[in-house]
Amino acid sequence: MLVSLLFLFWGTFVIINSCTHAYYVMPDNLRKGDPTICFERDILPIFISNCTQSNCHNAVAHKGGYTLDNYSNIMKKGIVPGNIAASKIWESVAMNTWDVENMPIDAPGLNNTQLDLLRRWIQSGAIDSGSDCSNTICDTNLITYAAGIAPIVQTYCIGCHNSASAPGGSLIGYNNVQNAAVNGKLIGDISQQSGYHQMPPGITLSACQVTQVKKWVSAGALNN
Ligand code: HEC
Repeated sequence: MLVSLLFLFWGTFVIINSCTHAYYVMPDNLRKGDPTICFERDILPIFISNCTQSNCHNAVAHKGGYTLDNYSNIMKKGIVPGNIAASKIWESVAMNTWDVENMPIDAPGLNNTQLDLLRRWIQSGAIDSGSDCSNTICDTNLITYAAGIAPIVQTYCIGCHNSASAPGGSLIGYNNVQNAAVNGKLIGDISQQSGYHQMPPGITLSACQVTQVKKWVSAGALNN
């Protein structure tokens, strides 16, 4: 009797376990990607800026077994191509569910634009479009603060620089960005000059983006 009960438990355990793993994974040949999304340009910065702070999901700390600093590491855990519902990473940033901790911890969550990009990237197969984002619409003449600079800072920087007490300080709002522009660190850091901290860590802004920022700074770093 006891033995058969044990078998019953074991059998139930096996069935439950196999069911929870039987989720849809988009087959390779259907992973076409979304032509408007380039991983390096649109998705990686979201991870770098919001997840790879020291003590979080960088290579050293890799909290929870997640290292979120490049494509192959990101794909190791928590992203299921073609299936957002089964993607733990999506669940943690976009859904308020009981079984997964909400991310990022103690920081503003991803904004709607970022969530939309992430969702479309996973649903279209979570592919690595390579480093050639040459279809990028980046206009070196787009150098107003509101249209050119603020979106770069939003995407690439404020996941980390989200409060005055963050390492390197806050980059939220014009005054903080202007401050970094005026003291030379903004350009020194994003153009990876020696003697500066490379920003964002582990990612290189495109030449066009660096040009946008340089032009904005040399035109007076105005709040325009
Ligand atoms: C993954 C987190 C992270 C991201 C993303 C990030 N930073 Fe930083 N930043 C830091 C840390 C940590 C420091 C403190 C210096 C250090 O340890 O390298 C810092 C320092 C700085 C400083 C002051 C450092 C200095 O040179 O004295 C500036 C300016 C800066 N960052 C600008 C930026 C800009 C601009 C971006 C976006 C284009 C950016 N950061 C993105 C983590 C980040």
